[in-house]
Amino acid sequence: MSIYLDHAATTPMSSSALEAMTAQLAKIGNPSSLHAHGRSARKDLEEARDRIARAVGCLSREIIFMGSGTEADNTAIKGLFWKGRSSGRNIVVISAIEHHAVLDPARWLEEHEGAELLVLSVSRNGVVDLAELAELLSHRGDEVAVISVMSANNETGVIQPIREIVEMAKPYGIPVHSDAVQFFTKAPLSFSDLALTALTLSGHKIGGPLGIGVFVLQAGLDIPALLHGGGQERDIRSGTFNAPAIVAFAVAVEESMNNFDERNARVQKLRNYFSTAIVATVPGSYINGGEADRIPGIVSVTFPGTESDTLLLLLDAQGISCSTGSACSAGVQRPSHVLLAMGHDDQSARSTLRFSLGASTTQEDIDRALDILPSVIEGARLANLR
Ligand SMILES: Cc1ncc(COP(=O)(O)O)c(C=O)c1O
Repeated sequence: MSIYLDHAATTPMSSSALEAMTAQLAKIGNPSSLHAHGRSARKDLEEARDRIARAVGCLSREIIFMGSGTEADNTAIKGLFWKGRSSGRNIVVISAIEHHAVLDPARWLEEHEGAELLVLSVSRNGVVDLAELAELLSHRGDEVAVISVMSANNETGVIQPIREIVEMAKPYGIPVHSDAVQFFTKAPLSFSDLALTALTLSGHKIGGPLGIGVFVLQAGLDIPALLHGGGQERDIRSGTFNAPAIVAFAVAVEESMNNFDERNARVQKLRNYFSTAIVATVPGSYINGGEADRIPGIVSVTFPGTESDTLLLLLDAQGISCSTGSACSAGVQRPSHVLLAMGHDDQSARSTLRFSLGASTTQEDIDRALDILPSVIEGARLANLR
């Protein structure tokens, strides 16, 4: 029996999205071509754009299709920085818990483009420090080119105060980007209501396909592109449209919106049951960010006296898939920067696992995982003592 508890890394495509993608793959025509085949593909694509825009609370023309969440994050950080620099703003502000898709382009700008990078701390519960941001803005608000803070963290699920950050940035005219890759479809989101400048989404985290990201950028705003070519998508993202992935993404989005309340309530209930039972049955274990608002499916648990790499393999041998942190940096022997920012030392950060539940997770999956987990932890602790 295999139990998949790594939905935050990637979640299975919904069957309706898969069907839509397969049908679209069989259609001929480049959506940019002017003949009937092209126009038909374009119509499908524009309908998908409208449907996604409705779910995100933005205008259709604010949606820019890309190849991944990583690409959208890079475009946001670099594009908004370059735009700001042209009017004398040189500071990039991010939080200490950003995904590498934000963290690394920000560091790259610091190393290669002369940007000043300022990183906001988080509380022990993993929530960004607004007092620190207020202090920073009061002194240097006019120098800030972009602020980027994620909507929810991929390792802990902790939700960040994006509305407050946008409010704080407004008097200084600072654009705010938020990576909502984990947040979208897990909690209510409206781009226009939040008054964000830019937003990142990704297909494979919500039941859509891999290889599709959405970059939402305020209408009328023009930023430098990373890719140059055919001029698609406001000249910000050249490249032939991936119509099958775009259409399938729209189907997954609509499906997620249609069962939003029921699915999120069910996943959250299962997650809470799972985490309560872990803490009750595994001595010394604790939940990271457990007191903060979190999206429903993610739980980060520290098991003192263990090594998460070993735990991962032991659980894998029992058919349970989970993660030691962000899957995108898994395999690299570094303690999670997210947990370190939350006050962990190297050792406790290395003793932490992320379990993430999704739409297809069942009570049986969780009960079976709970049957296996305590003995695996005990075994790992004993092995660690030897
Ligand atoms: C918060 C967050 N941002 C960005 C990404 C990268 O998205 P993609 O896999 O579409 O490049 C991920 C993927 O793990 C993520 O969790």
